[in-house]
Amino acid sequence: MGERPVREPPGEERDLRRLVLQHERWRGRETINLLPSENFASPQVLRYLGTDLARRYTLPLDQTLHGEKVDNGYAGTRYADAIEELASRLAARLLKGTHASVRPLSGHVAAMSVLAPLLPRGARYLAVQPENGGYDGYAPGFLPAVLGHHVLPLPLNGPTHRADPEEIAALLRRERPDALVLGQSFVLFPYPLRALVEVAHEVGALVLYDASHVLGLVMGGVFQAPLEDGVDVVFGSTHKSFFGPQGGLLATRREDLFRQIDDALIWRVLDNTHLNRIAALAQALLEMERWGAEYAPQVVRNTQALARALDEGGLPMLGASEGYTASHQAFFDGEGLRTRIGTGPAGLARRLENDGLIIDLVGRVGAAEATRLGMREAEMATVGELVHRSVRGEPVAREVRAMRQRFRVPQYC
Ligand SMILES: Cc1ncc(COP(=O)(O)O)c(C=O)c1O
Repeated sequence: MGERPVREPPGEERDLRRLVLQHERWRGRETINLLPSENFASPQVLRYLGTDLARRYTLPLDQTLHGEKVDNGYAGTRYADAIEELASRLAARLLKGTHASVRPLSGHVAAMSVLAPLLPRGARYLAVQPENGGYDGYAPGFLPAVLGHHVLPLPLNGPTHRADPEEIAALLRRERPDALVLGQSFVLFPYPLRALVEVAHEVGALVLYDASHVLGLVMGGVFQAPLEDGVDVVFGSTHKSFFGPQGGLLATRREDLFRQIDDALIWRVLDNTHLNRIAALAQALLEMERWGAEYAPQVVRNTQALARALDEGGLPMLGASEGYTASHQAFFDGEGLRTRIGTGPAGLARRLENDGLIIDLVGRVGAAEATRLGMREAEMATVGELVHRSVRGEPVAREVRAMRQRFRVPQYC
């Protein structure tokens, strides 16, 4: 019998392993992340993502098949179903709702899960458009085109995107839309929610709040409280200012709306709900319930401190006279930046990336992940200084790596 040759993994398998390890080391250990769209999940959240739940299905049903009553399409779901129930209960509690679903696979899917069943084809809604900081998904060619809705631009004012309640009230009364969809990808300040909800309801419009960016702040008790202020449904991503696994959720106090959404979810918007994600989400919700009141205000204070450090050191930021921000994001003044350093936010982001400082290419910075890793206002001043030195051409990558070594372990968990 010949000996079996010991085989090296094929080239592409080796490449894959190397790429994953390289990413893990670079983004996980050597860089400081100032993207407002991302966060840092706890070790326990990551552990649940890699459990047996990642291989399973559950499909709660209420059907009669071949003369038998069937309450699930699959057997073997006793623990999985209890995990989902726990996660939904926690999501409802943290958002101060009576009903919640943790099934949406992302913020975009959560938006579809709400808009598709609540608004019939041909319905009209108001939503902030990308030129005012809105989510691209609400631009006419995207979700409205897919779902057969007409979207009307919701006006916001000035570079910090402030809502004028009287202007929006007049628009609501004139247009009488089927819904007012609030929420933005570029978001600094809360809406005057009660005033908007009152007029929207007066003209028969539902108020739907996309909290993708601000979910961690809302759950932590800062920024605003959509359901308490009368919003009909709140929904969004679970991985931006909220430190959950990537995914989505929704919550409401209206059982009638919840039934409509829940009945339409499976097979219209999704099928498998990714049970490992749901267990991980439950863990993150527990962490938020325990630590949110400390975490969320620290995120806002850190973001303000970072914006101030950047602005005062010579990189112009918007909103100085308004305290820069009340959220986990701050905005560069793109024009001012170009005048000062000869490049806009994209050029700046490329420059900083070489030194291990990660910002987005569209003009935002944020402190949610830095906060999760334990940084406070003093560290934000240091990060600001590293940014300025990097912009001046000093090589600061080693200092960035050394600082990141000191802030490796997630806090608030
Ligand atoms: C306001 C808003 N809604 C929805 C989404 C989509 O979220 P996800 O990437 O989780 O699908 C985003 C993503 O940036 C967003 O900013």
